[in-house]
Amino acid sequence: MKKSLLLLLAILNVITLFSQNSLVVNLDSTGTKINKEIYGHFSEHLGTCIYEGIYVGKDSDIPNINGYRKDVVEAFKEMKVPVLRWPGGCFADTYHWKDGIGPKEDRPSIVNVFWGGVTEDNSFGTHEFLDFCELIGTEPYLSINVGSGTVQEAMEWVEYVTSYSQSPMTELRKKNGREDPWDVKFFGIGNENWGCGGDMDPVYYANLFRNYSSYIRGNDIQKVICGPSGGDTNWTETILKTLNNKKNLAQGLSMHYYTLPTGSWTGSKGTSIDFGEDMYFATLRNTIYVDDIINKHLAVMDKYDPEGNIKLIVDEWGTWYDQLPGTKDGFLQQQNTVRDALVAGINLNIFNNHADRISMANVAQIVNVLQSPILTRGKEMVKTPTYYIFKMYNVHQDANLVPVKLTTEDYSYNGESIPAVTASASEKDEIISMTLTNANPGKDITIDCSLGKDFKITNAQIVTSKNYTDYNDFGQDEKVFISDFKAGKIKNKKLSLKIPAHSVVLVQMK
Ligand code: AHR
Repeated sequence: MKKSLLLLLAILNVITLFSQNSLVVNLDSTGTKINKEIYGHFSEHLGTCIYEGIYVGKDSDIPNINGYRKDVVEAFKEMKVPVLRWPGGCFADTYHWKDGIGPKEDRPSIVNVFWGGVTEDNSFGTHEFLDFCELIGTEPYLSINVGSGTVQEAMEWVEYVTSYSQSPMTELRKKNGREDPWDVKFFGIGNENWGCGGDMDPVYYANLFRNYSSYIRGNDIQKVICGPSGGDTNWTETILKTLNNKKNLAQGLSMHYYTLPTGSWTGSKGTSIDFGEDMYFATLRNTIYVDDIINKHLAVMDKYDPEGNIKLIVDEWGTWYDQLPGTKDGFLQQQNTVRDALVAGINLNIFNNHADRISMANVAQIVNVLQSPILTRGKEMVKTPTYYIFKMYNVHQDANLVPVKLTTEDYSYNGESIPAVTASASEKDEIISMTLTNANPGKDITIDCSLGKDFKITNAQIVTSKNYTDYNDFGQDEKVFISDFKAGKIKNKKLSLKIPAHSVVLVQMK
């Protein structure tokens, strides 16, 4: 019996853990690629995300490259930003792209109606965004205005940015200083059209989508449907039914899911700093819930698109807390603690494990807004705990998913329980990378793993800090960062991992 079990394990070439917390890593079943775009970001004309966060203009005394902050450019390159969504968000469905091209002094100013009512001078437009993507080596993902735009306007934008043909739009682009088109593959057709993007019902939107999609053309273009808010499967179902499985109309369906500690959009959402274990637990509970939501939408998608041609794109996710005291209304400024590192690690593990159907995800937002990897204040810049998770996890980008089967003890608080550990694994260039989170703030968790062969740990890292409320602040030494993780050992083909309380770890083996 024992022999045949060992034989079975050898055949499957699995790594098995025999403890309360066990992880079976199936090395024979790799094949699904973890699209690098799962590690994507989102930038919106909101608060200080674009202006101050990314773009300060050439004349600024903040060191810059053609107006883009030098410190931020370097940080993004180091973190690796595979795809960047722009210009919104709710802003996108108020945005008329022709306002943001040509000489800056001729560009009209508009009011940013959704975000603080501030004046938008359009000095950061199509050229500034797409040139920025080239500078940091990222794929652009443009969000097209459906709520207050026209099909003609959308069609012309696509032509302006992607076409080599001779046409009024390509001539205009050349006149504005860009000879060749940029490489733009991803186009979102509308944003939250069930809400800020025009308050539409799903049948109306789906028919509009069909209309827009017919005129947005190009060989490599991927068109993304505005999908549901959170668990609204009725939106997903009605849209897919109305699209009637028409081939090539859409390659992606977006979904937005934010983690609010209290779960309330109307009252307090919870604070980003100075919180207790009740809010810590609730935040992680509400994060893990995204897995259920994804499974529900995938079940609907399987019904209408059994071949899986349309992928799920989680193009807005992350924590959403009350704005920091003293900050401007509508700017969505918050801090970022070890709790956010766990939120990022958990979400990314979940997305990795759905790599067969999730092709992209974009954390909201890349600088100074909601769960940002980077915060800026004047000349200063801070790398948040979320930054370090993205940096540590970038080994999974375009690696092959290694399916894992995890058995974990619970982390319980006040009569409620969530899984204490989440995990995902991938393989690239014969290196196995495993990322694990331990949500329990009061307990280190040990996982013992019997390996089928002689792996050696090549790299092990951890993101944590003394308290789960710790964060990195301006003008102070960093408290939360990546350090070497020494609590993992392989001995006699056995891997033993002791994952410290409230931490996220990476273990790489060869
Ligand atoms: O990310 C902030 C806002 O959240 C976006 O503009 C909108 O799409 C969502 O409601």
